[in-house]
Parts: sequence; structure tokens; C-alpha cells
Amino acid sequence: MKFLDFFKTNISTRSMRDVAIDLGTANTVVYVKGEGIQVDEPTYVAINVKTEDVEFIGSKAKEIIGRTAKHTEIIRPLKNGVISNYEITEKMIEEFLGKLKKDKFNSARVIICVPSGVTQVERRAVVEVVKDAGAKDVYLIEEPVAAAIGVGIDLFEPKGHLIVDIGGGTTEIAFIVSGGPALSRSVKVAGDHLNDDIVEYIKDERNLLIGEKTAEELKINTISQDDPNKEYEIRGRELGVGLPKSMKIKASEIEGAIERHIDMIIDEVRITIEEIEPEVAADIYETGIYLSGGGATIRLLKERIEEELKLKVTVGDDAIHAVINGIAKVLDDFDDYKNVIISPTIEY
Ligand SMILES: Nc1ncnc2c1ncn2[C@@H]1O[C@H](COP(=O)(O)OP(=O)(O)OP(=O)(O)O)[C@@H](O)[C@H]1O
Ligand SMILES: [Mg+2]
Repeated sequence: MKFLDFFKTNISTRSMRDVAIDLGTANTVVYVKGEGIQVDEPTYVAINVKTEDVEFIGSKAKEIIGRTAKHTEIIRPLKNGVISNYEITEKMIEEFLGKLKKDKFNSARVIICVPSGVTQVERRAVVEVVKDAGAKDVYLIEEPVAAAIGVGIDLFEPKGHLIVDIGGGTTEIAFIVSGGPALSRSVKVAGDHLNDDIVEYIKDERNLLIGEKTAEELKINTISQDDPNKEYEIRGRELGVGLPKSMKIKASEIEGAIERHIDMIIDEVRITIEEIEPEVAADIYETGIYLSGGGATIRLLKERIEEELKLKVTVGDDAIHAVINGIAKVLDDFDDYKNVIISPTIEY
């Protein structure tokens, strides 16, 4: 090899950074090859409505939700897995990626996930937003495929596997077989809808108004609780009276509040199974269902699937990071996974 070629190859690969991004409705995670997860923050941005400046991004913005001064607005720039506010998403990504050294990011190869079945316009928005933030080559991967790789499913086995990723805004259901997705469905019911269920339930049944953040904390604390009678204290404002109040609530009541949406998710899983080829359906009888995403540890979900669909349920290790771990693996073995990577050169 000529010196110049050698120089070019080595310099370009050395300065090239491989970056994986899981741009989620609830959380955004950034992984850098060789360095691990570098950013893991809520997808929330606090904006000063007077100056339009960004006040906080990530956990600091989420922390003050429901406790903002008049001049501050909290924006969640993604809705149901897709970008709903381009400008704010770009600012947020720029900020997150700015944490990686800028000079290196300029030449980065990025793989970012999108929910299955998003429109071309929505896909293009994701690619453009990352490019505008400074990336060179941007590749896409479907979120459930990344989740499947992340929970350890062998994509290349000629055997069917079923992955269900319960995120904040969408639940992704996908059959993976012989190297890629065979059938996938994206449902707009996920973890954040359960928070709303809890707020509604406590308002209707207990006459107490609670904030979104309190509802989420309550959900996370109760949802994998073994003892249904364990009590939790909640604080909010009493309806009608208007004054602050504290009361106790049992874990079982929270399960009751979220039941309707859990059943909806299970119905969608059932419908998807009904549509798959019989050979793959037969495989699922053996391999069962893999759960990933922030909602994977919901005990009620696992129990109901086992009871109603009579299938074995495996909750992925580090389920909330399954997608980012999957994309990281794809970065490591880029050529092996080329069939599931959506190249930036094709028409979106
Ligand atoms: N231990 C837990 N038990 C139940 N729910 C949880 C737990 N931890 C997180 N969650 C919920 O999981 C959701 C976030 O999960 P995740 O980070 O997978 O979503 P996301 O990838 O940002 O969203 P999406 O994939 O829908 O765009 C939130 O609704 C959060 O409340
Ligand atoms: Mg997700």
C-alpha cells in the first residue's frame, strides 16, 4: 500500500466515530463505539417562552415538569415515536451530541432507530435532524429489529421470534425471522399512556389531582411490586376543595387503573400473531415472546400474556436499553447486518 493510501485509510478510520442513537419519545440514548453509552437523558426540553432560548434539556427539564415558572414551557419534541417539533429536536440532539467532541462528531457514521411503519416524511425528518446536528452518514434501523438484537435474539436463525418493545409513546410488535423483520406493527399505546390512566383514576376514584411526574413515579414503584396490598403515599390537590392533600393507595389499585391499556397492547399482539405465517407461529410456540423497553418489567403485562396467549415470556436483560444495545451491536458488525440497515443513499 502506498504511503498516502495508508495514511488516508488510517486517519479517516481513526477520526471517524461510530455513533448509535435511540431517539425515543421518553428517553434519548447515545452510544459511541468503543466508549459505551455517553448520553442517557429524558427527551424533554425547557424553553423560555419570552426569549425562546433553551433553559434546560434532558433530566433537568423533566425534573421541573409541573413546577415551572410562567416564562418556562416544557416541550416533549417527540410524540408516539416520531418528531413532532423539528426545531426543538434539533436543538436537543445538537446539545446531546455536543457532549461528544465536536470535531470528531463531524465525521461520524450514525445509526438511529425509527418505529416500524413510519412515513417517508417522518424518516427523512430523522435523517435530516441528525445531519443538521453535524453527522456525515446517517443510517436508519427499525426500532423492533434493534430491540430484538439487543435482547439477544439471533437474527439469522431460520426460526421465528416475537419481540414486543413497550416504550413511552409506542409499543412495537415484530416477528423476526431469517435475518430480518417478517411482520411488524407499531401501536400508539405505551408507558406514557399508563401515566395518564393513573392521573385519571386517582381523580375519578379518589377526588385527588396529581401531576404527571407523581403518576409516573407511582407507576414505576408499584408496577413490579409482588405484594398487591403494599401502600404508597400520594400527594396532590383535592378536587372541589382545592387544597393540598395526602392519601394512601394500594399497588393493586394502580394495576386496576392501567389494566385497560395493558389489555389493548395484548390484543394488538394477538392480532399480529393471527397474521403471521403458520410456520412462524409454530416457532413462537417454542421461542415465546421477548419483552423490551421501559415497560418490559410491568408484571401485569407478563402475567396476562402468559395467561391469555399461553406463551412463554422472556423479559430482556437491561430491557430499557435493548434498542441502544442492539444498534451498538449493528455498529460493531456493520456488514453482517446490512440487510436491516436502511441506507442513507436510498430514497426515504
Ligand atoms: N421500571 C419501570 N416500570 C414500568 N415502566 C417504566 C419503568 N421504567 C421506565 N418505565 C416507563 O417506560 C417508558 C420509557 O421507556 P423507553 O425509554 O423504552 O421509551 P422510549 O424509547 O423513549 O419511547 P418510544 O420507543 O415509544 O419512542 C416511560 O413511559 C416510563 O415511565
Ligand atoms: Mg423506544
